Order: sequence, then structure tokens, then C-alpha cells
Amino acid sequence: MKIRDKMTYLDNGATSFPKPAGVIEAFVDFAKNIGASPGRGAYEPAQIAEDKIDRTRQLITKLIGANDPNRVVFTSNASEALNLAIFGLLEQGDKVVTTRMEHNAVIRPLLELDRRGVIDILWTEVRDNGRLDIEQFYELLETPGVALAVTTGIANSTGVIVPFWQIGEFCHKRGITYLVDGAQLCGVYPVNVLEDNIDLLAFTGHKGLYGLPGTGGLYIGKGMEKKLRPLIYGGTGGHSDLPSMPDELPEKYEPGTPNTPGIVALGEGVSWVLEKTVEKIHQHKQKLLSMMLDILRDVDGIQLFGPKDDIDRTAIVPIIIPGIEPKIVADILWEEYKIAVRAGCHCAPQIHFDIGAPQGTVRFSFGAFNTVEDVEYAAEAVIEIVKNYAK
Ligand SMILES: Cc1ncc(COP(=O)(O)O)c(C=O)c1O
Repeated sequence: MKIRDKMTYLDNGATSFPKPAGVIEAFVDFAKNIGASPGRGAYEPAQIAEDKIDRTRQLITKLIGANDPNRVVFTSNASEALNLAIFGLLEQGDKVVTTRMEHNAVIRPLLELDRRGVIDILWTEVRDNGRLDIEQFYELLETPGVALAVTTGIANSTGVIVPFWQIGEFCHKRGITYLVDGAQLCGVYPVNVLEDNIDLLAFTGHKGLYGLPGTGGLYIGKGMEKKLRPLIYGGTGGHSDLPSMPDELPEKYEPGTPNTPGIVALGEGVSWVLEKTVEKIHQHKQKLLSMMLDILRDVDGIQLFGPKDDIDRTAIVPIIIPGIEPKIVADILWEEYKIAVRAGCHCAPQIHFDIGAPQGTVRFSFGAFNTVEDVEYAAEAVIEIVKNYAK
């Protein structure tokens, strides 16, 4: 096969690349020409900074179907947003229902509260095709004392879409707070926090929203701010005389100087996604997913993980070449083909036991900029590796 000179980037599950040109331009323009800290000065650039941050808030509000931009608070990534939700909400004796397909950004804060003796965690299993055992999840939600349900929107290891809209309805009827880890969901698959009954939605800026690393946030549903303690305490620009964090949103959860250039650039990423539409981006990636699955499904010497078809999953293709460690396959893909993928357990250790890949997988994850040619090239490379290396 003809080897490409340039990198073929298939690690969009880790971070999307490349970024839309407007994202980079907005970042540079802010850093070069504006520079001021928002809400902390009466001069024009400080006001411009504030307005630009508000614009990003409004665009995210639109993307997630919320109705109040002040309910979108910025953090440095999804991990911080999830920590804010989990540590801010849970009280002594609470029970939490979650799943074994979560990322460590959910698992570790929960386990920390478990270790401290604060909460009990009820884990829902993943079936071997990567889908959640939804019946077990609902059963666990009926346990007395459940205060919080936490699920990912889309599993980063398999691309499986969790039926968050059904879980939201179930939780809403029982008065259970529902937190969704939207790191792989926002910008990738349609979500509407109000219709889907999501109380808290964590997002990250650098994946499906096509912003830069160091940006993310938490959508805080109506009434949640009464229960949710801040994670970080400090200055908020205004209300300097108050000895505690102000009650107003978003200030209550946004102490310190924000990553203004990053948030401004994120606005361009979200605007780009809204213009293309989440549905069209999803459709394009579904085409790539179907193609990759169709080519690899019948190849001897390759094991595919996740659902067999392209239904209820997004453009993530985890594979194993039996006999070659996933990390070695990823190395060969890079060294010989300049294909960038990720190998291992993808910060989601439990699901890999449930799907029968305890040593992890090689994960191909497609983004909006990938093409049919990228899929053909990657599939051809995998088939060649099987031929050349597998015993
Ligand atoms: C499902 C899921 N949750 C949370 C995260 C953490 O996101 P961030 O690194 O932006 O904090 C990731 C990142 O890979 C993820 O895939």
C-alpha cells in the first residue's frame, strides 16, 4: 500500500484535530489584541472580554437546549466539571447509581467519596456487546436512598450511546438528580438538557466542540445551585466585600481568572458545530463508522469490540489483533503508516473487563474532518499489520 506523507489523525476521542480555522484565529486575536481579564475593569477591552465569554455561554446554551446562559459555568475541562458536580452535591449516606462504562473522571471522584465513607456506589454492568444493562440500571435506581444517577452520554471506549433521555425521564419521575458526563456527547450527538431531563451536564471544549484544551464546563439545571457547593473558592471580580462565594450564577462556581482566550476560541468551535449542525456531523461520521466496520468485520485475525452494527453508537472503533499487544499495534500504526490512534484502557478500566478486553484495545476515533480515504487507509493498514505481524 502507498504510505501517506502526512499524519492521518484518528484519535478524536482523545481530542479533536484539526480545529476549524476560526478557533485558532479567535484564540490568537484575543491573546494579541484584547488580552484583558473579563469583568474586572471598566475599560473597553475588559468589557469586550466579558462580552465574548458571554457569547460562548449563549452558544453552548443553544447547543445543549438550555434556556439560561448563566447556568453554563466554565471549568478547565470535563474532569473538573464532574468533580464539581460529584463533590459539590453528595452528602453523607447518599447512594449513587452509575455504570461500569464510566471514564476515570467519574469513577475516581466517586471512589474517593466511597473511601471517605461518604457514599455507597451501585455499579451497573455492561453487556459484552458494550451496551449498558439498562434493566439493571433501573432496578438499582429503585434502591432506597439513591440521590444521584451518573452516566456518560457516550462511552469513550466503544462509542455506545447511552439512552440518557430515557434515564433522565426515569430519574425525573423519582426525584433523583441526573448527572451526565457529556465529554464524548456534546457536539457529537444531539442533546437537549430540558427535554432529556438532565440536571447536570459536564462538557469539555476540546473534543466534539472543536475548541482547544483547557476549556470545559458544567450546565447547572434549575434549582441545582441551591444544593451544589462550589469546588473552588476565591475571587469572582465583583462582590469583593462578601466573605463567601456570591449566590449568583455563574459567579458562584467561577472563581479566579478564566482561560479567556480558550473560552473565546471555544465559542468559535461551538458556532462552527451549530452551523454544520450536530446531526450532519453525526451523519458524516456514521458513514465513516459503517465503512470501517464493513471492511474489518470479516477480516480473520481482527477482533472488533462494541455493538456489531452502527446503531446507537458513534464513530469509535475499538479493535484487537490477537497475539499483538494493543500498544504495539498503535506503535506500528504510527511508525509505519503515520496513523495516530490510542491504545490501552482509555481511562475506562471496568468496561474492558466486561467486553472481554482486559488488556485494552486499539481505538480508532473519527472526527468531522476525517474522510472516506482516511477510513480506507486505516483499514488497509490494519489488514497489512495482521498479515505481516500476527502469528
Ligand atoms: C467519557 C469521558 N469523560 C471524561 C473525560 C475527561 O475529559 P477532560 O480530559 O476534558 O477532562 C473524557 C476524556 O477523554 C472522556 O472521554
